[in-house]
Amino acid sequence: MPTTLIVTAHPEPNSFTNAWARASAKACEELGHKVIWSDLYEMAFDPVERAANFKDHSPNAHFDILKAQDTATENNNFAQDIAREQDKIRQADRIIFHYPIWWFKEPAILKGWCDRVLASSAMHTVDERYDQGRFKFTRALFCVNTGANAHECAPDGKEGNLEMLLWPMAHTLRYLGMTTMKPVCAHGVHSYHEGDTKIKLETYLRGILDNQINVIRDFDTRDIIHFNADDDFDHNGSLKPDAKSYSDFVRCGVKE
Ligand SMILES: Cc1cc2nc3c(=O)[nH]c(=O)nc-3n(C[C@H](O)[C@H](O)[C@H](O)COP(=O)(O)O)c2cc1C
Repeated sequence: MPTTLIVTAHPEPNSFTNAWARASAKACEELGHKVIWSDLYEMAFDPVERAANFKDHSPNAHFDILKAQDTATENNNFAQDIAREQDKIRQADRIIFHYPIWWFKEPAILKGWCDRVLASSAMHTVDERYDQGRFKFTRALFCVNTGANAHECAPDGKEGNLEMLLWPMAHTLRYLGMTTMKPVCAHGVHSYHEGDTKIKLETYLRGILDNQINVIRDFDTRDIIHFNADDDFDHNGSLKPDAKSYSDFVRCGVKE
C-alpha cells in the first residue's frame, strides 16, 4: 500500500484548501494507505533560506547556498525541520500538494519549502536529476484552487493557462525525477457570493471533496504531465529540432 505525503499550504484551518487536504487524507486512509502530513502553516514552516540556517556556515564567509546544502548533507546536519521534511519525501510513494493559486503561483511558504527542503546533494546532484533523478518512483499530484473561474484559467483564459502556471512546480519535481499527474483544479473558489450563487458554489465544492476518494483510487491511472527525456536535448541543453515540445516553456511558440 502506498505511503502518501500531503503537503498543504494555507493559513486558515477551515479554508477550502485545508478541507480538501483533509479529504485527501481521509480517502487515503479509507483505502488503507499510510498518510504523512506537512501542514506548512500549522508547522510554522520557515520558508526563508538564510546563512543562519546552516550550523557549519561561518558568519563572515560568502554564503553559497548550494555549497552550504552540500556540506549539510555531507555532515548530516540540516536544521531539524528540513531533515524531517526530506525524510518524509524519501518515505513517500506519492505526494499530494494542496494549495490556492496566489498571484499566479503557489503561496510563498510552499516555494520556500522547495528552496530549503529540496536541497542540493540531499535530494539531487548534477548526475542524479531529470531522467536520473533519485525520486523516479515518486508520483505527485497538485490539487489546486483558484478564485478565477474555469474559463479564465483555460488555455485562452485571461488569467493564463493554469497548466502552464503549474509547470514550474511540476518541473521542480521532474528535476528530482518524480512524475507529476495532471492536476485536479477547483475554480471560482471565494466567499463573495450570496444567495443561489453561494449555494451553487457550496454544492460544487462539496462535490470536489466527495470525489476525492475517486481521485485517490484512480491516482495511478491519471494522465501525467509530460516532460522531455534527457535524450531529447543536445549537448548544449537545447531541444533537438526533431524532438516534440510538450510545453511552451520549452521551445516557446513552436508547436506541431
Ligand atoms: C494573495 C492572494 C493572491 C491571489 N491570486 C490569485 C490568482 O492569481 N489567481 C486566482 O485565480 N485566484 C487568486 N486568489 C484567489 C485564491 O485562489 C482563492 O482565494 C482561493 O483559491 C480560495 O480558496 P481558500 O478558501 O482555500 O482560500 C488569490 C488570493 C490571495 C489571498
